[in-house]
Amino acid sequence: MAKKKPVEQSAAFLKTIRDWQKLEDDTIRYADTLMKKSKNRLIKMTMEMIKHDSQKHKMMQQMLIDSLTKEPFILAPEELGAISEGLNKHLAAEAKSLELADEALSNCELFVTQYILSYLIADEQKHHSLLAKLNELKRATVFVT
Ligand SMILES: [Fe+2]
Ligand SMILES: [Fe+2]
Repeated sequence: MAKKKPVEQSAAFLKTIRDWQKLEDDTIRYADTLMKKSKNRLIKMTMEMIKHDSQKHKMMQQMLIDSLTKEPFILAPEELGAISEGLNKHLAAEAKSLELADEALSNCELFVTQYILSYLIADEQKHHSLLAKLNELKRATVFVT
């Protein structure tokens, strides 16, 4: 009996990701335009960050598409076991970063500080949760694809 394909390999799913990926080009262009149009450093920084993020999104969407259409991602628990020590140290550093960032945010009074710190904290949370999810998989007994 043929194994049922996951929904991720359907044309509809891939189209969604590809449509979204195309939008990244638009956001990169908008960010670029606004960056050039404004002399304000806070606006420029915001546009720069969004542009970088959009470029990163494009790359990750492509890796996702390729993993579904060409070569799948495979991750075995042993591979995580092999980097266990480094992963734990990294997790601790990200957790400490979050702690410091939260402490800084809780004391701040200016709009700009809050604006920048909340962006950074969201990123640090992302880093920590990505690593935590990988760490969880160490205990899995099956291959993840
Ligand atoms: Fe994006
Ligand atoms: Fe981080």
